[in-house]
Amino acid sequence: MEKLQGTYRHRLWFHLDLSKELFGRRGFLLGLASCMTDQGPSVRRVVVLGSTGSIGQNALEVIAASRGRLECVGLSAHTQVELVLEQAQRFRPRFVVLTDPGRVSPSLLRQFPAGTRVLSGPAGGAEMVQASEVDVVLSAVVGAAGLKGTWEAVRAGKVVALANKETLVAAGELITQLARHSHATLLPVDSEHSGLFQALKAGRPQEVRRLILTASGGPFLRRPLEELSQVTPQEALQHPTWQMGPKITVDSATMMNKALEIIEARWLFDMPGEKIQVLIHPQSMIHALVEFVDGSVVAQVSCPDMKLPIQYALYYPHRVPGPAAPVDWSRVWQWQLEPPDRKRFPALSLGYQVAAQGGTAGAVLNAANEAAVERFLKRQIRFTDIVPVCEAVLEKHPFDPQPSLETILQLDRWARQEVQKWKCSSC
Ligand SMILES: NC(=O)c1ccc[n+]([C@@H]2O[C@H](COP(=O)([O-])OP(=O)(O)OC[C@H]3O[C@@H](n4cnc5c(N)ncnc54)[C@H](OP(=O)(O)O)[C@@H]3O)[C@@H](O)[C@H]2O)c1
Repeated sequence: MEKLQGTYRHRLWFHLDLSKELFGRRGFLLGLASCMTDQGPSVRRVVVLGSTGSIGQNALEVIAASRGRLECVGLSAHTQVELVLEQAQRFRPRFVVLTDPGRVSPSLLRQFPAGTRVLSGPAGGAEMVQASEVDVVLSAVVGAAGLKGTWEAVRAGKVVALANKETLVAAGELITQLARHSHATLLPVDSEHSGLFQALKAGRPQEVRRLILTASGGPFLRRPLEELSQVTPQEALQHPTWQMGPKITVDSATMMNKALEIIEARWLFDMPGEKIQVLIHPQSMIHALVEFVDGSVVAQVSCPDMKLPIQYALYYPHRVPGPAAPVDWSRVWQWQLEPPDRKRFPALSLGYQVAAQGGTAGAVLNAANEAAVERFLKRQIRFTDIVPVCEAVLEKHPFDPQPSLETILQLDRWARQEVQKWKCSSC
């Protein structure tokens, strides 16, 4: 330590303070290694859970552009077996997991590259993320279906790049406890949380006054309130600034996505809900802001492209040139920031309520929302039913302040069944 130069001393403090306090011992070790050598990243062997999804495909672009510094060693898919086969032929991973065993057939298996082991079901997923050849697990399955794989990766003490916010919403306390125990590192991939993580480096944890998450406002930001009950799934799926999977796109329209992100930030940064604020920012260029106790505000800005936060997590703590487009500073920008209208976006209040409650509330809200979004997309309920049904199921559930994983999984199933009973009066 005596031999470290002044700059390295400073960087060492900062990594120790931030990575160790927020992200566990392995985060600290990654930071320390980079301070001592300053040689850039060594090869990272990456598993992409949910490689056929929007985040998964962006991650594979980041890996393809890495010139060998990121190696894809595992992929997983649920329904899109043809796509994962193409991905396997291109990236030649050691493992592919087909999470739905019903889609595995001998003729499909014969088409995978010779060096790729094809596994199936949850046991296959657990085996892949625990393998010694794996350094980083990108958790990019959508919904509570991502909980099992993330849990196994955290249990195995891996670096987990977390896009699947639903895992932290449903089981934030258990996952963060497990990470402390296994020395796993949780790195945010959600653009707002990646933005917070980057902006937080401007100060020490005790100097933070509030975290601010931005929200585009979705497609219905200016739509007259009385028209919202008539909006169609097609309209809800037209996000003005981001290209994402269908579930998160509908969540952005209801602002449930931001409610889930408040809960995610609560667990990821160990910050109470009252210190987490939301601002509407329709241009989606400012992803997050951190206000420090002296009144200084540090913002993270980049184009709305998930390749950047994915890359930041996969190379952390290094920054390297990548495929995400830089901000064009030659044009005139007008960026608005405004407080959200809670009447238009009642999901936000649920987010704060659940962040304060903890226990089983997150799992129930998350499952109810997933089931309600599914029913809305099938036109069985209205857009404006989504939040009230979540609220009703949340109120009815037998709250447990210290649940086990089994209780969480059981209440997840219960909440989905409750949503099926919801009658849409005006459909
Ligand atoms: N998209 C974004 O820009 C964005 C931004 C921030 C955070 N996130 C978060 O990232 C996660 C993924 O979002 P996405 O937009 O990429 O979703 P998506 O496009 O719908 O992709 C979902 C992925 O999960 C897999 N999957 C679905 N159901 C599954 C199940 N029951 N078991 C195992 N795998 C299953 C899908 O496999 P198949 O396609 O093969 O069926 C696909 O690979 C979500 O938690 C979301 O909140 C996304």
